[in-house]
Amino acid sequence: MAPAQAEIVAAEPAAIARAAKLLRAGRLVAFPTETVYGLGADATSDAAVAAVYAAKGRARENPLIVHVATPEDAAREALLDGRAERLAARFWPGPLTLVLRRRADTRLSPLVSARLDTVAIRVPAHPIALSLLGEAGRPVAAPSANPSGALSPTTAGHVGTGLGDRVALILDAGPCPLGVESTVVDASEPDVVRLLRPGGVTQDDIEAEIGPLADPDDGPARAPGMMESHYAPRLPLRLAAGDVAADEALLAFGADAPVGAAETLNLSPSGNLDEAAANLFAMLHALDRPEFAAIAVVPIPDDGLGAAINDRLARAAAPRTSRAAGKDAA
Ligand code: TXA
Ligand code: MG
Repeated sequence: MAPAQAEIVAAEPAAIARAAKLLRAGRLVAFPTETVYGLGADATSDAAVAAVYAAKGRARENPLIVHVATPEDAAREALLDGRAERLAARFWPGPLTLVLRRRADTRLSPLVSARLDTVAIRVPAHPIALSLLGEAGRPVAAPSANPSGALSPTTAGHVGTGLGDRVALILDAGPCPLGVESTVVDASEPDVVRLLRPGGVTQDDIEAEIGPLADPDDGPARAPGMMESHYAPRLPLRLAAGDVAADEALLAFGADAPVGAAETLNLSPSGNLDEAAANLFAMLHALDRPEFAAIAVVPIPDDGLGAAINDRLARAAAPRTSRAAGKDAA
């Protein structure tokens, strides 16, 4: 018998209360954030956190992001120095994840950190996520709610298709407004802040707050999950396409897209990168169909959210390895 599919429920107050109760009981609940849907678990419970790794097929060496309702809740679990406090004050709630040193007296399971002495933590800017965190009354570990290595989910339907048989409940609040994951910065070492993953907060915005970030190639820190192939559709992806074949699907951007594709979706006909980010994963999901030979993607400008979009596209197009599919991807 096939495993039961989780119920997808509209994120009304009664459903949020039910989801919070499931979290407190150690169950997995998928919920919306402003970036992508998260696969939530009680971050203080070893068993619940272990269940997240199992459900995603995620490598145990690849730590999870902990979600909290307020900056004070973050400070209860991790150490924020002056720069981290400025970033938190400026960007929380919002799509910025800070990698910080764990407090000695943290309640967080060591498994959320993959046993490192740091923890990645953020306050999400989504009313449903915030009320769920408030009602759960504890930090919630939540990686993106997709099987490891696959495209990230920006709708409840994406979660249902990818992980529906592995979660207790899916809270549905419609498409995620931002559409790409949070920016991850490492602020765990004195005097340097390093960008680990471009995302919803741009590097320019961060640098406007705290000055230049360290060169990501200069130093040891790379997010453990930042291997090349990731966010991958099943079809091959062809980037910076100037033309398109009749058997290819086309992901376009702006007014003058190449013609002749078997099917075309446009990330933003007006060339708006915020709109493009919001559409990115949903359009990749929609075009990832076996009747096409590949998905061709036109060049996307690298400014603003373009940096995060191009990062995801580059990883989606990277050569696939079994490691990528099963071990390191987030
Ligand atoms: O927008 C987001 O960040 C979404 C929503 C659900 O909040 N979450 C998300 O989680 O994208 P995930 O697990 O798919 O990606 C977490 C990233 C991974 O690249 C992981 O390696 C990195 O954060 N990370 C987590 N803890 C870390 C740590 N202690 N040190 C360095 N990198 C860490
Ligand atoms: Mg992920």
